[in-house]
Amino acid sequence: MAVRDIIKLPDKRLRLVSEPVKHVDAGVKKLIDDMFETMYKAPGIGLAAIQIGVTKRVVTMDLSKKEDNHEPLVFINPEIVWKSDETAKYEEGCLSIPDYYEEVERPAAVKVKYLDRDGKPAEIEAKGLLATCLQHEIDHINGVLFIDHLSKLKRDRVIKKFAKAAKKVEA
Ligand code: NI
Repeated sequence: MAVRDIIKLPDKRLRLVSEPVKHVDAGVKKLIDDMFETMYKAPGIGLAAIQIGVTKRVVTMDLSKKEDNHEPLVFINPEIVWKSDETAKYEEGCLSIPDYYEEVERPAAVKVKYLDRDGKPAEIEAKGLLATCLQHEIDHINGVLFIDHLSKLKRDRVIKKFAKAAKKVEA
């Protein structure tokens, strides 16, 4: 296992649409292991493969928040097959947009189809934080960021801030 670098705004790779996984082989399992190690180290509760620069539709998650009691979740090729009309607001953050948090309104509940770690088809009905997290990560594999759900004014402001910071690092 290895901790990988998390790419950050304004890295253009965050806008790529990731490719479906065809076979859950040893390479994909190694990727999942690396993603968990990277996510726990950050620390974060969700990570999409594109955030470590890999354009595969793979998501890792752990909402347990207990260091000694991990509850790792893996979603391969996740797809929203149903969403509720009812919405919910959560304050979201993203490892690719560090130290920035904003409230986002999304469907309160979703049903998601995916492959599990062994490549077996599975389905989950989620609400609360899990529903929000699933939608946030599925956005990632489609090249969408949570700031895209904010007003243009707020989005432009955060993009500008990160572009400026990146320039400073380069200089
Ligand atoms: Ni994110």
